[in-house]
Amino acid sequence: MFSPALTTISKSKDPLRIAVMASGKGSNFATLLKCTEKNIINAKVCALITNNSDSGAFKIAKDNQIRTYLLNHKNYNTREELDYKIIENLSKYSLDLILMAGWMRIVTNILIDKYKNRIINIHPSLLPSFKGFDAIQQALDAKVKITGCTYHIVVPDVDSGKILAQAAVPINSIDNHHSLKERIQAAEHKLLPYAISIAGNAIREG
Ligand code: GAR
Repeated sequence: MFSPALTTISKSKDPLRIAVMASGKGSNFATLLKCTEKNIINAKVCALITNNSDSGAFKIAKDNQIRTYLLNHKNYNTREELDYKIIENLSKYSLDLILMAGWMRIVTNILIDKYKNRIINIHPSLLPSFKGFDAIQQALDAKVKITGCTYHIVVPDVDSGKILAQAAVPINSIDNHHSLKERIQAAEHKLLPYAISIAGNAIREG
């Protein structure tokens, strides 16, 4: 499942300090936790930000004693207000990276500038194709033969920042949304340690 040969974070360095932002099932969050437990990447998951108490991610955090901040976007008047609250909660952790693992909200310059080049998003397409909402359905509708997943740095333009890592996933004639999503997510999980390593090394080497 994992690709340890691709990981390059030296074990002698302090663990990367990572927070996760997630709204959904949490399979990428779970993969990150597994990678840290198995020492596939030298990292510590410090906290989870979620906007959904029914999410799988919320349950995974509870089961793994990860400090969780439940910030429902409906309780904030603007995106900026929510971003200030996220910063208020995360600032104590001296984070190296924030991983958006299925965070289904647009963030603003407030958060992006605070953690410049340190926020990574996972997107279920081969960017720059199929930016935005439901990239899997977009790929099916476009009848392309190959799609995939992308890990990229978050910038103000949605799904447009520097690409850290990508994996291709072929689309079969019998694929539907569910089957394609499963294979894209498997590719995301496999690529995760490599993508985190690339981002972590960039941060540590300044
Ligand atoms: C992932 O497949 C990720 O690519 C997608 O959400 C899923 C979260 O799954 N992200 C986006 O669509 C962002 N635009 P998970 O909760 O099982 O990790």
